[in-house]
Amino acid sequence: MAALLANFRNTVIVSVIIALLIAVSYYMHPGTAHERYWEALFRWLHVFFGILWIGLLYYFNFVQIRKMPEIPAELKPAISKYIAPEALFWFRWAALITVVMGLILAWTRHYAVDALTLGAANGFQVPSDTFIGVGMWLGIIMMINVWAFIWPNQKIALGIVDADADAKAKAGRIAMLFSRTNMLLSIPMLVFMTMNQTMFG
Ligand code: HEM
Repeated sequence: MAALLANFRNTVIVSVIIALLIAVSYYMHPGTAHERYWEALFRWLHVFFGILWIGLLYYFNFVQIRKMPEIPAELKPAISKYIAPEALFWFRWAALITVVMGLILAWTRHYAVDALTLGAANGFQVPSDTFIGVGMWLGIIMMINVWAFIWPNQKIALGIVDADADAKAKAGRIAMLFSRTNMLLSIPMLVFMTMNQTMFG
């Protein structure tokens, strides 16, 4: 068991296999409401990638950005050369997959267009479409911030692409400001995400 747990990739593979076995056995169960099964499956995938994305967003904002100024210069490459590039890899792909799974989830609930138009597509007859719609747009804006601003500027700031010291400092500040913007949007976004089903069913 220790050998399995000592290997990150194998641990994730076994964890996914166990999760899929549970999901498939649930599908095979005679009492399962198959019409909501796919909604359940994409809700699980959406929340998993949402945790990975927002978890890394909170690592950057609660830990790395705040502690970086205190790290002695000769130790900073440990973060900029090793930790940050790896974290940014999972961060940006989890952001994209969270949005794709969220859109599919909205589609399985038959309100994707209504929600993305904030209820306008059905004449604002269904308050929950406006509610979850605002949450979905906050998540989409956060994902665009990741791919259009945070990642390109982090590549410059971390020296993944060549740039002089001034450009690196400027890019680092832009990346920090957009990451902090996502921090600010994340907590209201989770109000819409997590309260929708309880309030509107
Ligand atoms: C920013 C990261 C996001 C996180 C952490 C997140 C997380 C969550 C969570 C925890 C739920 C509630 C699950 C439940 O009640 O069972 C949820 C529901 C949902 N999310 Fe997200 N979400 C995010 C972004 C998005 C985006 C960008 C979209 C679509 C573009 C989206 C679409 C949905 C939909 C449609 C639901 C189902 C709401 C319902 O129960 O009717 N989410 N999300």
